[in-house]
Amino acid sequence: MLYLDNAATSLKKPTAVFKAMQHAMMNYGANAGRGGHFLSRLAGEKVYETRELLCEYFGIENVERLAFFPNTTYALNAAIFGVLAGGGHAVTTSLEHNSVIRPLAELKRRGKISYTVAEGDLLGRISPKKIEEAFTPYTRLLIVTGASNVCGNVYDIEALAKLAHSRGAYILVDAAQIAGSREIDAKNFDMLAFPGHKGLLGPQGTGGLYVAPNVNLAPFAVGGTGSMSESIYQPEAMPDYFESGTLNMPAIAGLYESVKFIIKEGTKNIHNYEMELFDMAKEALLNMDNITCYGDFFAKERMAVLSFNVKNVDSVTVANELDERFNIAVRAGLHCAPLAHKTLDTGGGSVRMSFGYFNTKKEVKTAIDAIYRITKGYA
Ligand code: ALA
Repeated sequence: MLYLDNAATSLKKPTAVFKAMQHAMMNYGANAGRGGHFLSRLAGEKVYETRELLCEYFGIENVERLAFFPNTTYALNAAIFGVLAGGGHAVTTSLEHNSVIRPLAELKRRGKISYTVAEGDLLGRISPKKIEEAFTPYTRLLIVTGASNVCGNVYDIEALAKLAHSRGAYILVDAAQIAGSREIDAKNFDMLAFPGHKGLLGPQGTGGLYVAPNVNLAPFAVGGTGSMSESIYQPEAMPDYFESGTLNMPAIAGLYESVKFIIKEGTKNIHNYEMELFDMAKEALLNMDNITCYGDFFAKERMAVLSFNVKNVDSVTVANELDERFNIAVRAGLHCAPLAHKTLDTGGGSVRMSFGYFNTKKEVKTAIDAIYRITKGYA
C-alpha cells in the first residue's frame, strides 16, 4: 500500500522504535513509578529519559513541566478544561480541529464559558487583526493550531503568543501537525500539546503537554500517580499532577528512539524533503483539469498537506477509488475539522494527501498518475 495519510499518523517508523518497544516489553515492562523494585526503576528511567529528550527537542528548560498524555486530544482537553475551570472567555480560529472546538463547545453548553471563533479567509489564512478583535476583557485563553490539518497552512504562533500575552491571556498551541516537521521553541508559549505518533514518528498512544511554570491548571483526570498516596487529593507536583494511571511505557520507549532519529536527521531537513514531495504533487494537481486545491500556496511556510476535490465528485468516492483501484491510502471527508472545511468552502469534505519523511518521489508520481486517471474517468 502506498501510504499518504501522514497527517493522521505516520505509518513507517525508524526501526529502532520497534526494537525499543519490543525490548521494553520483554525485559523491563514493569509499571514506571510504582514500587521501588529494579524493573519499575528501569521503566521509570526510560520515561524520564524520554521526557528529557523531548524537552531538549522543544527547548523546555524544566523537565517536570512536560507531562505525557495518550494523544494530543487529551493534552488539549487537559489544558482547555484546566484554564477555563473557573469560567472566562476563550478565542480560537475556524481552522481548528474538533479536539479544540468540542471542549470549548462542551464548556459553553455547561454554562461555564463563552468563546469566539476568529474566521479564516477562503485560502485558510487568519488575519492577526481578526484574532485581536475577538479578544474581550475576560479572555483568558487563545488556542491556535500550528498548522491546519486540512490545508497545511502554517500560522504565526510566535506572533500570536505575543498578542495573547499583550492582552493578559495564555496561549495554547496545538502542535499536532507541526511537531517533528517545524522547529518549535516551547518557551514562547504557555502550553503546547503535541502527538508522538505523527511527525515525531513514534508509536500511537503517545503525546504530551508542556505547561509553562507561570501557568496553574485545574487537574484533568485524577487518580493513582505512585506518589503522595496517603493524600486523597491529586499531588500538585508536575508531572504527576497530570499523569494519573499507568503510563504507556513501551510506547514511550519507542518515542525516545523516534525523537533521537528526528534530532539526528534534523527537523529542517525532514521538512524540506516533505515539501519537495508536496511541491511535486501541488504542481501536478494545480495543472490538472477538474481539480480544486485548498489552502494558501503563496505563503513562505506551509506543511506537506494537500487537500483537493475532483469536480462534482464526492471526496469519499475519490478516496475509495484511490484505495481500491490503486492501493493508495489518503483521508477524505471532514478530517475532524468541519469549521476548516466551511472556511475553505470545500463543499463538505476534501481528499487529503499528506506526505511524510519515508515517502518517495516515485510514490508521489504514482499518486499523481492515479489521480489523473480518476479525473479522466469523471470528465
Ligand atoms: N487529526 C488527524 C487527522 O487530521 C487524525 O487526520
